[in-house]
Amino acid sequence: MSFRDDACTTVDALVAYAEQARRGEVPVVCQPQLAVLTRDLELERLLAEGGLEGDQLKQFLDRYLAASTRLQHPHYMAHQVSVPIPHGSLAALIDGFTNNAMAIYEMGPSAAAVEHAVLNWMMAKVGWRTRDAGSPRGAGVLTHGGSLANLTALLAARARCAPRAWTDGVPGNLVLVCSPSSHYSISRAAAILGIGERGIRHAATDKLGRIDPAALSDLLRQLRDSGEVPIAVVANGGSTALGLFDPIRDIAAVCREHGVWLHVDGAHGASTLLSPRFRHLLDGIEDADSIIWDAHKMLRSPVLCAAVLVRDENALDNAFHQEAGYLFHDKEQPGIDFIHRTVECTKAALGLKIFFAVAHGGERAIAGMIERQTDLAKAAADLLRAAPGVEVAVEPETNIVCFRVEGPDTLQLEIRKRLTREGAFYISTAEALGRRWLRLAFMNPDTTLDDVSALLSEVVELRS
Ligand SMILES: Cc1ncc(COP(=O)(O)O)c(C=O)c1O
Repeated sequence: MSFRDDACTTVDALVAYAEQARRGEVPVVCQPQLAVLTRDLELERLLAEGGLEGDQLKQFLDRYLAASTRLQHPHYMAHQVSVPIPHGSLAALIDGFTNNAMAIYEMGPSAAAVEHAVLNWMMAKVGWRTRDAGSPRGAGVLTHGGSLANLTALLAARARCAPRAWTDGVPGNLVLVCSPSSHYSISRAAAILGIGERGIRHAATDKLGRIDPAALSDLLRQLRDSGEVPIAVVANGGSTALGLFDPIRDIAAVCREHGVWLHVDGAHGASTLLSPRFRHLLDGIEDADSIIWDAHKMLRSPVLCAAVLVRDENALDNAFHQEAGYLFHDKEQPGIDFIHRTVECTKAALGLKIFFAVAHGGERAIAGMIERQTDLAKAAADLLRAAPGVEVAVEPETNIVCFRVEGPDTLQLEIRKRLTREGAFYISTAEALGRRWLRLAFMNPDTTLDDVSALLSEVVELRS
């Protein structure tokens, strides 16, 4: 069998998989026992003997796809992972095939040019390319996901306030200020950066969990008086559980007054910058020192693909200091290296995935999708709120809706467990505002309000 034949077989299988899912003919999620799946997929035999081509490949794909979670199914409402534009997936194929590990320009000029252009496009959306001459230029790098992006941005923040930390280790008085509703990758980054989870200082919030700028100012003053040095304040540009945005402009003003780095975790919400209707939610973002932006959430690119953007390019260049004579040396080249801006050494052509996802329909198509999904979330919240015994956590600002049925937290978990077991709907849960909620993340442009109605009927049935 030739590669071409097997590639056609694979594409045919994927197209059939997606179409079946879109028609809702199959469960959105199924979870066979690991041992059963390992046996059915004949993994051990294939690893030992090979032969994964032709008919064996076809058989393998059928079984593999049968036990894959179907993001293309309109009842996929669980996690903030995109339903990729099919053409975006082609980029993954091209990257896997060419294998141009482009952290250094010479290993992948096209891939580097695409990443550079995508980063510039993102920075222009933030408003950084139009800065006055003489002010620092922005810069960025793409990483494997938002968690690594947050770590990278906070490393740059640490380098600014403790430049000797890289060589001497971390002073004991460093802390990190964030919202109690920050994604867990923020406290994880604090632990990795040597600040420790005990070095997390939570900013006070309003009753919906958004950082209160006046209280933040008080906190930063108290920290200074007690000799603690915040490496950064982290604001949510879309929180994970509820999808709410912190008031970035006011937070930025407080950070500037106190000389503290502002990092905006826009993993989910930064894509809102594309939407003329909802961009105001990120008002003031251009005053942040760093931002992260996941493309594999709302830009519809395949996983994993996130941007770290910094307002001053020197900040990212100063984040890492490494001797690697075989890679880092003076060389005349017509392009740029990314290697000194990232944890990774060998680097995938992540920009290609974003480029294929966005360039297929253009940025207006993505903006339209973001607006549609947000409108759907608002309509879903109205529908759910109107149902007896159902409470909606907050008016949605993005495509995320949290609701609960009357009863304890354990009931919400039980309902989700049963839904997942039955496989007709796939949703998640989240803790917020002191309680557990059923959580819908509308990532699939095929999901409609009728699907939400059908889910509600199912939830009501399971409650009784
Ligand atoms: C606000 C926020 N930040 C960071 C992350 C982590 O991103 P990733 O899953 O790409 O590592 C998430 C994931 O959902 C998130 O919601």
